[in-house]
Order: sequence, then C-alpha cells, then structure tokens
Amino acid sequence: MIAGNRTINYLRISVTDRCNFRCQYCIPSSPFKMIPHEKIAKYEEILKITRLACELGITKARITGGEPFVRKNIFSFLERLCAIESLKDISITSNGALLTREKIKKLIDFGIKRLNFSLDTLDPVKFARITGRDRFHQVFDTIFTSHELGISPVKINAVILRGINDDEIENITALTLKYPFHIRFIEYMPMGDSAIEKQQQVLTREIKEKIESKFGKLIPVKRNANDGPAKKFQIQGARGIVGFITPISSHFCSDCNRLRLTSRGTLRPCLLNNYEKDIINPLRNNATDDELKAIILSALTKKPSFHGLTDQSVKNMPISHMTSIGG
Ligand code: 5AD
Ligand code: SF4
Repeated sequence: MIAGNRTINYLRISVTDRCNFRCQYCIPSSPFKMIPHEKIAKYEEILKITRLACELGITKARITGGEPFVRKNIFSFLERLCAIESLKDISITSNGALLTREKIKKLIDFGIKRLNFSLDTLDPVKFARITGRDRFHQVFDTIFTSHELGISPVKINAVILRGINDDEIENITALTLKYPFHIRFIEYMPMGDSAIEKQQQVLTREIKEKIESKFGKLIPVKRNANDGPAKKFQIQGARGIVGFITPISSHFCSDCNRLRLTSRGTLRPCLLNNYEKDIINPLRNNATDDELKAIILSALTKKPSFHGLTDQSVKNMPISHMTSIGG
C-alpha cells in the first residue's frame, strides 16, 4: 500500500483499551470512559481485517493495548494471527507484568521473536510512583526471562520526565553495556490531559548529552528494516543499543510506514491526528472483501505528511489518550 511516497507495510493492532497499569504519562488525570465491551472488535473481526490488509501489502504487525495481555483468550488470538502466512513479522508491546516464563515460551512457539516492554526506572519505589503499580520485580523478571529464552531483540521503552526519572538516564542506559537490549528513549508526547506537565518533557538532546558525558561518544548504528522511527546508537564496546524516538524534537512522519487498527475497530492513519475511519461497522453490516479493502485504502489517503505536535495550536486539540489508540 502506498501513501504519498511512503510504502505502508506495518499494521499496529490495539486489542484492548484496558490496562493493569496507570502510567502517569499515559493515563488521563480526569475520569475517562472505557470502551464498552460490545464496541471492542472481536478477535474474529481483527483477524479478518488483518488478512485483508495483508492482501494489500501489510507484512508486519504489532499487537498493542492498553495492555494486550489483560484481554481474555489473547493466546488463542495470537496463535491464529501468527498463522497468517503473509505476516512475516509479529511483535508485541506489553508492560510485561503479566508474562510468565511459560507464557513467553508459548509466544516463541507461535513464532514471535521480538517483544517491547516499558521500563522508566530501575528503582522499584519510583516504578510504583510512575506506573501506579508495585510491579517492578515482575517486569524486570519478564525482561530478563525473555532475553534468556531467546527473544531478540528485547526492546525497552523509557519515557524520561523531569523531576521524576531524569536522574536514571545513565542507569537505564548502562543495561546496554552488559545485555543486548535496545533501550529506546521516547520523548514525552502531551496527549489528552495526563498528569504530566509539558515542562517535564526531557528532549533527546539533553538525554544524549547526559549519556555521552557518562559513557563517551555515542556511535551511530546502521538502520535496518525493522527499525521504525528510532535513531540508533551504541556506546563503545556495548552489547546493546540506545535508540531515540523523537516525535517532538524532530518529525519522522516522512519515514512512517504504519497504519493503526484501534480496539474500537477504526483505522487510524496517524497516532497524532484524530482522523479515524470506521471499518468495524461496515464489516458487521456484511460489506464485501473488496468494499473493506477500499475502506483500508481510503484511510491511507488520509495519512498526513506532517503532524503538528510541536505547534502551540495542538495544545487545545482533544487528542485521544494512548490507551485508546494503542501507542
Ligand atoms: N508520550 C510518550 N510515550 C508514551 N507512551 C505512553 N504514553 C506516552 C506519552 N504520552 C509509551 C510508553 C510505552 C509505549 C506503549 O508508549 O513508553 O512503552
Ligand atoms: Fe503504562 Fe502502557 Fe498501560 Fe499506558 S498502556 S498505562 S504506558 S503500561
């Protein structure tokens, strides 16, 4: 599938808006409604839309939430998703808290090779403060167990916030010295009304400076096909990689190769733009495969070439919060 001069081959599938965590940068600070169960796309529906998207050129998928592993019967869904022949690469973004050794083994049996987790601190007390849950040890165990069992790469997302975890940049980065993890520092995106102030945002430049003053010059690493928007570097002699995802300080729209399917069954061409195209209702109303494919293609024509998140005007825009979109 082509949008402008971009080839879209990557579908991000959010299977739920529910999450067992309450990360301060993600969850809105005022009360919010969960999507009613009947509005959530059924597994069968997600599989059908995915198969059609694959016929149009999608070859990669990522499962996101909320937290994907809070949804019932997620393992049988994943097994069926992994059976779609043209999907060559399936990965999952999870907070890691619900994954046991047995479950990770199952994922590997299905053919899943890559996992992304979030870890914003190595301090259990801060972890509980940031995520609202005292689950540091479970998440840390999941990360190391995934590595031990052969998940590669294990990616770790960290959002750095001033006054909360900006003193941990070096500790988190140091994990790459010993382990082949990909640590990715993601710039905080002010979405909806999270409890985090814009002033707490720590941009890549500052994070990089801190890393370089502790570990020496970061060496750029060549990009490969699975990279997405992260700019990758390595500390001299390290096993792992340090990446930066810079939605704020540098636009990466021109490289964006993804389309999102939300848990409400809408197609969302851009995370940072509220345009969504309904596909679940046409599907429920017996649209033909060709009609559904036309809906997928028409959603892509709405993929913006540029987002406006650095723009002041966006401050007042009612952007949906992350758990409902899938990050
Ligand atoms: N800004 C930047 N990253 C965010 N995430 C969630 N909310 C935000 C935000 N407002 C990231 C988390 C998680 C991933 C799914 O999304 O780091 O790892
Ligand atoms: Fe945290 Fe991810 Fe859950 Fe948001 S969806 S609260 S970032 S664990």
